[in-house]
Amino acid sequence: MGPGKRDECCPVDRPEGIGNTNDIDFRLECSLKTSADVTMTQEVLASFIDEANRTILKKGAPKGYGAEVKSWNIEGDRISLIIESGRYVRVHDALLRMKKPLASKLGKDFKIGIRGVDVGLYTIEMPCENELPQMKIPYVSDIKYLEGKVILTLDVDESAMSNRVPDRILSLMEDKIEQQSYGGKTEHWNILWQSEKKEHRLFEDPTTAMMNAGWLKRGASRGQWIHGPQSTRMFRTFEKIVLEELLEPMGCREMIFPKLVTWDVWQRSGHAKGVYPEIYYVCPPKTRDPKFWEEVIDHYKVTHEVPNSLIKEKIGDPIGGLCYAQCPPFWPYLQGETIPTDEFPIKVFDRSGTSHRYESGGIHGMERVDEFHRIEILWVGTKEQVIKTANELHDRYMHIFNEILDLEWRKAWVTPWFMAQEGLAGVAEQTETGTTDYEAVLPYRGEDAEWLEFQNVSVNGNKYPSGFNVKCQSGEELWSGCSGVGLERWSSAFFAQKGLDPENWPEEFRKRVGKIPEGIRFL
Ligand code: SER
Ligand code: ZN
Repeated sequence: MGPGKRDECCPVDRPEGIGNTNDIDFRLECSLKTSADVTMTQEVLASFIDEANRTILKKGAPKGYGAEVKSWNIEGDRISLIIESGRYVRVHDALLRMKKPLASKLGKDFKIGIRGVDVGLYTIEMPCENELPQMKIPYVSDIKYLEGKVILTLDVDESAMSNRVPDRILSLMEDKIEQQSYGGKTEHWNILWQSEKKEHRLFEDPTTAMMNAGWLKRGASRGQWIHGPQSTRMFRTFEKIVLEELLEPMGCREMIFPKLVTWDVWQRSGHAKGVYPEIYYVCPPKTRDPKFWEEVIDHYKVTHEVPNSLIKEKIGDPIGGLCYAQCPPFWPYLQGETIPTDEFPIKVFDRSGTSHRYESGGIHGMERVDEFHRIEILWVGTKEQVIKTANELHDRYMHIFNEILDLEWRKAWVTPWFMAQEGLAGVAEQTETGTTDYEAVLPYRGEDAEWLEFQNVSVNGNKYPSGFNVKCQSGEELWSGCSGVGLERWSSAFFAQKGLDPENWPEEFRKRVGKIPEGIRFL
């Protein structure tokens, strides 16, 4: 039976405003399978649907909106329905809202049960000026473009509907359409503070200068460096400055965070939403039985080639990736805990290992690397404590960059790192939540060229405590913040402006660096 015939059967009056004032149209054709013939329930059903259209299908929606059963029909042991809605009380919600009271009514009055739901057709129509590139979305069986609209046909069952799959499909499409309309990910950028102009000592790429001076060499892997004794001394000096001027006076405690991050951590941190193109994946062996690997070992011994395709068969699925953002793998330490109120603010830091990002190809210097070193500072407390800690960090960084490193730099309010890493643009919903980037001019590129982001400070709102289910004993909402000190970035900024000759370095830095060790000589 086609929808036309059903329309004729039991038309339901359409309240004004429904369907045509909303930009998104949901439509669901489905049927409820019953345990017996329901023909004799016709009148009861009519009054149930009539009432539902006025009550439960409108509840919570602004006046004039909500869902509506447009038509319905009985066919033996099936009740067929056509439901329409806009954004409010979406059709799947409407169906689920009706199912229970209807089942109890049929049960009570007729001893008939509802056995299940069959979805005939589920469509979402939304405005979309330009066609999007072809894509594959789970539960979407068809995507059509028609006169400024996109029409999605969903292949969902009752369980997908009660798991809110259609809502997630709608959000995903809205994101894609929005992204397309501003031409990809334009990140937010708003200047907050800028130092005075400084006189610079070097107008050369600092990585080239450091390589020429024998301070470091490229590593075997992509975007990886081996730091010689001289470069390493610089990193350690930067760390010492951060320790003495910031971490110790602020009472930050050192911890060691894991450097292999599993999917469950990235699901809670939000990274699972977008980080895939940039992570280094980690796959464990299917077994550590040497027999299982003997073929690989023998192959190598005979050919001196690593048999990658054979290895691929013998490793398991990726369990996650190498450390990317540094703070997410801290959170399982607090996960599921209720923490005494006087423990806050908790301030910790980690500098125990590398972070890894699959960066864009091409030759880059030390400022854009696949493997990098960073001190990650992380704090947790009430909203006030978290904002106060962020401000104290800003003050201390200001002192370091002005009085010790004497940099030309600026601060900008940018798209929060946690949004950017999820693939989102714009700013956070709460105005106190977000990221401040610290940027330095690279004189060899010129004042007007892109400045180098060398660290950040972020107030992350309640995202992490809520994602990892961390509670304060007092019941107050917990917030957190984090700040990443990128040592390769600090080096790039400092040497780009000051050069490699200690004569030209600011006195405060020279005092702390001491005598630079000799490098390893080569013939
Ligand atoms: N976790 C933050 C980031 O990845 C600060 O290091 O940017
Ligand atoms: Zn962080």
